[in-house]
Amino acid sequence: MSAVVKEVKKVTTNTLQKMKAAGEKISMITAYDFSFASIFDAAGIDIILVGDSASNVMAGHVTTLPITLDQMIYHAQSVVRARERSLIVCDIPFGYYQSNSDIALASAIKIMKESGANTVKLEGGEEVLDSVKKIVSAGIPVMGHLGLTPQSINKFGTYVVRATEEQEANKLKRDALLLQEAGCFAVVLEKIPAALAKEVSESLHIPTIGIGAGGDCDGQVLVMHDMLGINTEFKPRFLRQYLNLNEQVTGAVQQYIKDIKSKDFPNENEQY
Ligand code: KIV
Repeated sequence: MSAVVKEVKKVTTNTLQKMKAAGEKISMITAYDFSFASIFDAAGIDIILVGDSASNVMAGHVTTLPITLDQMIYHAQSVVRARERSLIVCDIPFGYYQSNSDIALASAIKIMKESGANTVKLEGGEEVLDSVKKIVSAGIPVMGHLGLTPQSINKFGTYVVRATEEQEANKLKRDALLLQEAGCFAVVLEKIPAALAKEVSESLHIPTIGIGAGGDCDGQVLVMHDMLGINTEFKPRFLRQYLNLNEQVTGAVQQYIKDIKSKDFPNENEQY
């Protein structure tokens, strides 16, 4: 008897290209572990991003800077084990691509080899072009990231909206085209004016994925802890919170404590 092989049409970078051409919006969410990634994949999300926001939401750091390449690979391995359909993108963390393109390539190869992710993401425009070209020429798809790039928080000094001034907006438009020419398959646009994101999205043939960049991007991404209401302190204007998991989990755990203290749990049906 032959085994039944489940045929699932996996999302690839080509799928995303076709979605943009057809005007179909692309959905992306972050995940850092097997259990949530399984839920998101089964729910039909197109892209799961193993973001370096893991540094904040998983490890409790204030910025994304401290997370290491090995820690990112650990999270990506867990997410990849859950993958049936979604495309898995893994961030190259701070310090593992900025110094030169050989180091960038080595980091991308390590992520691909050890985690099984499908693609990598890195932040920046012109400054990282050599790295993007080198990684792409090794057969590794690269997603770019422009606008508010959290790995540069010490340069920006603040998480406010980027590219509101003409000079920064012009640089962003140029960078988006350069990333496309260098071979990026998509670009994240974070926290920039919606009109600018629209202009950039229309000027590119590769998809843009927005976060705080308005509805004219080709897709949208949110950090799972923000959209599920696990992290309740972070309430930027662009965030739509779909659940209040923090409140629900708090209620469930308080009830559990109460049931233990009152000797209600376990009852005779919950024991052997
Ligand atoms: O690390 C991350 O979660 C990200 C998204 C905010 C796009 O880069």
